[in-house]
Amino acid sequence: MNSFEVHLEAAELKKAVPEEVWIRFLTAQRWFSGKGRAITSVMPVASCPVDSAMAALILRVGYQSEFEDYFLPLLVGSGENADAITWINGRPLLDALSHAEGWLRLMAVFNQSIHPGVRLTLETELIHGRLPTTSVVRVGAADQSNSWALVGSLFVKAYRRMQSGENLDVTVGRFLTLHHTPHSPVLRAVLVGKGAWGQATLLSVQEAIPNQGTGWDLACAQVAAATRQEIIDYDVWTKLGTRVAQIHKALVSEQDEGFGTTPIHVPDLDSVARQAKALARSVLAELSSAELLPEAAEQASLLKAKASQLLNRLKAPRLPIGSCHRQRIHGDIHLGQVLWDGEDFTIIDYEGEPARVWEERLRKHSVAKDVAGMLRSFDYAARAGLPADADQTAHQTARLWRNLARNAFWEGYDKAIGAEPFLPSDLEQRSSLIAMYELEKAFYELHYELGHRPDWVGIPLAGLLDLAENVPVKRRATRPKT
Ligand SMILES: Nc1ncnc2c1ncn2[C@@H]1O[C@H](COP(=O)(O)OP(=O)(O)O)[C@@H](O)[C@H]1O
Ligand SMILES: [Mg+2]
Repeated sequence: MNSFEVHLEAAELKKAVPEEVWIRFLTAQRWFSGKGRAITSVMPVASCPVDSAMAALILRVGYQSEFEDYFLPLLVGSGENADAITWINGRPLLDALSHAEGWLRLMAVFNQSIHPGVRLTLETELIHGRLPTTSVVRVGAADQSNSWALVGSLFVKAYRRMQSGENLDVTVGRFLTLHHTPHSPVLRAVLVGKGAWGQATLLSVQEAIPNQGTGWDLACAQVAAATRQEIIDYDVWTKLGTRVAQIHKALVSEQDEGFGTTPIHVPDLDSVARQAKALARSVLAELSSAELLPEAAEQASLLKAKASQLLNRLKAPRLPIGSCHRQRIHGDIHLGQVLWDGEDFTIIDYEGEPARVWEERLRKHSVAKDVAGMLRSFDYAARAGLPADADQTAHQTARLWRNLARNAFWEGYDKAIGAEPFLPSDLEQRSSLIAMYELEKAFYELHYELGHRPDWVGIPLAGLLDLAENVPVKRRATRPKT
């Protein structure tokens, strides 16, 4: 196809496409994080041709006092296209990443190391030689903060919101790949965008992992099965605990920049606790002005009554120096970030928590933060895995499932991680460290759901109410014989 009638350079697009058209398109995208903020301008600022019908574009979105850059590969379509961003000279202008053809054309950039454009140069990095060619593409669901597709035997992910510097998903993915770490994806290639404005990771290419879904799918299926009184295999969660501990151990290397460790001192933890408290306070304020569904409103008022008790619990344990360290961790681990192939798990997506600012995601933490994230995720699954009309007995069964799954996970993790320097040897100090992060995570979740999924607000609210009652991680003593 040729598209001489359509010019895909940034300056031409700025003339041809009115701002309202970009705004209408952006605000309909799940990956656009500016929803709800007043947009003051949208402008194509840089572009680089991919081929005669496609270009990589950077779209700058201005707000009152800041701006964000988005990666938008554009494709000139032919014929009828209901999802056209706009029409230029009778041809539809498409978001290339919503179309198999766009992904295939984009993948061709990996045959060349440098593609110069206007204020945007594309540079490719191949980690294990050339990529296999294919014409089979499955475009991923549009409900994620990034866009992805399976391209033959490869999993390709486009990072829409451009962040200055290298995306952590790539930094960690490359490290784990070069260290031949099992149970993490093999990174094959990276596409970087560079310009006078800086540089950013645009695309990562991994080997696709055959799977039956995520750990979340498996957990929700188990919750439903438990309510039908079926036998549940809790050993899978022990295996997951082992895999998470193995990844934590693999993420430590004093020889590789960014993967070293630092002993945690009491003031470090005090500062974690202080920040967690500040987050909790701002979330509680956010909650009191939020419009909630009746059930959530009831939970919110119960939480209000327990707020000061919970805030007091956000205290750093007094750990002896050297009893644990800070290191690179996953940062956003939950059941949706592990793929299950029927036998084992692979841990994916090392980009960090989407609602945290980038600088915060780069910080190192105790592995306890990841453990807490996974423990919270079992609580999420126990609630989301139930149908809306579930009765009291089903709720009780789901809570029992949660406790047993958490204990099974912890058993695998604890055995594989050992004690110092990953976690304090003292059991009480260990649980209070995890408990502090768990509480912080529940407040973070509440903040995330209030902003993104109001229907889910009840889950972290119920989780916080439970944490107020305290659900400690314990050994699997109560597990029924199966
Ligand atoms: N290496 C892979 N192989 C196969 N599917 C994958 C792979 N990595 C991710 N996926 C699929 O893509 C989805 C989103 O991937 P993820 O890396 O978590 O991206 P996001 O940043 O959008 O959360 C996953 O839930 C999974 O279904
Ligand atoms: Mg993810």
